[in-house]
Amino acid sequence: MSFLCKLSELADNGSKGIQYGDDSLFVVARNGQYYAYRNSCPHLGVELNWLEDQFLDRDDALIQCATHGALFIIESGECIAGPCLGASLQAVEVCIKGNELHLAG
Ligand code: FES
Repeated sequence: MSFLCKLSELADNGSKGIQYGDDSLFVVARNGQYYAYRNSCPHLGVELNWLEDQFLDRDDALIQCATHGALFIIESGECIAGPCLGASLQAVEVCIKGNELHLAG
């Protein structure tokens, strides 16, 4: 079973944390595309968010780690500012099945 969430739970330009078994993941919806990553900052390995489903900066333009403020490109997961500059979030491949988001494969 690879179900992650219903697409209706994800507002466009929004983000959502998802617990999948023991794995903490999150997804960002952007212009009809879905980008999923492990919820782990490459800096210290802690979860990126302090508040439920809040993974983006104030402008909803970048993924932000709440702990020390690292900023990541939504589409690639690359860190462009902060203590893990140049490192990347670990991407998780997802696919759409009907009106649901699933792990790919
Ligand atoms: S733990 Fe994420 S920026 Fe330091």
